Amino acid sequence: MPPVTADKIMEKLVSLAKRRGFVFQSSEIYGGLGSVWDYGPLGVELKKNIKERWWRSMVHERDDIEGLDAAILMHPKVWEASGHVSGFTDPLVDCKQCKNRFRADDPKIKGTPGQPDAQCPVCGSKGTLTAPRQFNLMFKTFMGPVEEQAAVIYLRPETAQGIYVNYLNVLQSSRQKVPFGVAQIGKAFRNEITPGNFIFRTREFEQMEMQFFVKPGSETEWFEFWRGERMQWVEGLGVRSEKLRWHQHDKDELAHYARDAYDIQYEFPFGWQEFEGIHNRTDFDLSNHQKHAGKKLDYLDPKTNERFIPYVVETSAGADRTTLVVLCDAYREEEVRGEEAAEGGEQRVVLKLKPSLAPLKAAVFPLVNKDGMPELAHRIHDDLRRHFNVFYDDGGSIGRRYRRQDEAGTPFGITIDGQSTQDQTVTVRDRDTLKQDRVATGKLVEYLTQKLAG
Ligand code: GAP
Repeated sequence: MPPVTADKIMEKLVSLAKRRGFVFQSSEIYGGLGSVWDYGPLGVELKKNIKERWWRSMVHERDDIEGLDAAILMHPKVWEASGHVSGFTDPLVDCKQCKNRFRADDPKIKGTPGQPDAQCPVCGSKGTLTAPRQFNLMFKTFMGPVEEQAAVIYLRPETAQGIYVNYLNVLQSSRQKVPFGVAQIGKAFRNEITPGNFIFRTREFEQMEMQFFVKPGSETEWFEFWRGERMQWVEGLGVRSEKLRWHQHDKDELAHYARDAYDIQYEFPFGWQEFEGIHNRTDFDLSNHQKHAGKKLDYLDPKTNERFIPYVVETSAGADRTTLVVLCDAYREEEVRGEEAAEGGEQRVVLKLKPSLAPLKAAVFPLVNKDGMPELAHRIHDDLRRHFNVFYDDGGSIGRRYRRQDEAGTPFGITIDGQSTQDQTVTVRDRDTLKQDRVATGKLVEYLTQKLAG
C-alpha cells in the first residue's frame, strides 16, 4: 500500500469515523450544520472513556481535588468580571463587495485591511476590505420571554468561571484547605470565525478543566507540578511521545487572564496544534469576581491567620480535541501477512487504540452459524457483556468481521469454532499482533481483565 499523504489522512479519518459510527455531521439530512458534529455509538463510548479516565485521575485518585457540575448559563455579570465581554474577541474584516468575513490576520489576505492595497481572498476585489473590528466570540441568547438587552445571557465560553463563582461553596462544604482544586467536565461554546479540521475547532465543544487554588508565591511550583502531571496523563492515553511537545505562549499569545501558559501540542496531520493548556491565572478571576459581585472571596489560612485571594493554576483540556488526538494517533494503514491475508484481504485499516480506551473491548464471532457455535457464542457474549462493552457479529466471512473490528479499534476478537463446542475453549485474536491464544471460556473474563488494565 503506498504511504498516505498527510492531507488525505484527515479525509480518510472523517470517512472512517462516519462509516463505523464514531462521529457524524450534525443535522446531516438537512445538509449539515457547519463545524458541528454528533458522536455516534462508538464515538460516545470513546469520548466517555477519555472523560472518565480524566475524572478518575483528577478527582477520584486525589484527596485535594473536588468535582463540580456548574450550569452552562451564568449571571451575565460573570462575563463582565471575567473580562470575556471586553476581551474575548477576534479582529475581523468584511469585504464590502462579496460580503465575506475574515479574521484580520488571515494569511490569505494580501495587503493591509482598510487600505486600498488590500485584496479580498474570495472575490479578489481590491480596496473593499474594511479596517479590523473586534468581534466577540461569545454566543448570546435571551433569558425569559422578552428579547431585550436586559435579558441578554451568554452560553459559557469556558467552564472555568463556574468553578470560580463556586470556589467558596466547594471550599466550605468539602472542608478542603488551600492548596486544593476543583474539576469540571462540561460543554462550552464559542462563535469561532474559522472553525474546522473536523472536531478540532468547533463552535460547541466539551472541556475538562481543573482550577487549582494556591497560596500566592507558590504558583510557579504548582505550575511546574501540573505540567508534569498533565503530560504524564496524556502519555497514559497511549499517544506516541514523539508526537507530543510543549509550546510556551509568548506575550502576544497569552489570554487576557494568563501570566504564563504552556500548551501541550500534538502533531496532527494538519500540523502541530494545542489540545491542552496549563495556565497561571494569578488572582485575576477571583479578584475581579470579588470586585464585581461585592462579595469577599479571600481565604483565611488557619495555620498562619493570613488572609489572601488564592492564585489559580489551571489545567484546561478539550475532550473533543483529545478524542481527535487519540483517533489520529491510533489510525494506521497496514499490510496483513500470514493466514489472515487470505481470509480478509491483504490490507487493513486499524485503529490501534489503547485497549482501555477502545469503545468495544471484544467482539464475539461464531465461525459458522451452525453446529452449536451460535448458541455457545451467545452464551459467551451474554456472560462477557456483564463485565465489558462487547459486540456480537455473525455476518460475513471471519476475515471481513476482523477487518470491521480493526476499523472500530476493538482490541480482541473471540472466535467460537468447531473445537470450542468440544472442549469449551475459544481463540482470542489480538488486534495489533494478529496472534491468537486459545483460552478456556471460563477464563475469558480474567484473561480480558488482565489485558485491558492500564
Ligand atoms: N479556561 C481556559 C481555556 O478555555 P483555551 O486554551 O481557550 O483555555 C482550552 O481552551 C482547551 O479547550 C483547548 O486546548 C482545546 O482543547 C479546547 N478548545 C478551545 N476552543 C475550542 C474549539 N473551538 N473547539 C474545540 N475545542 C476547543
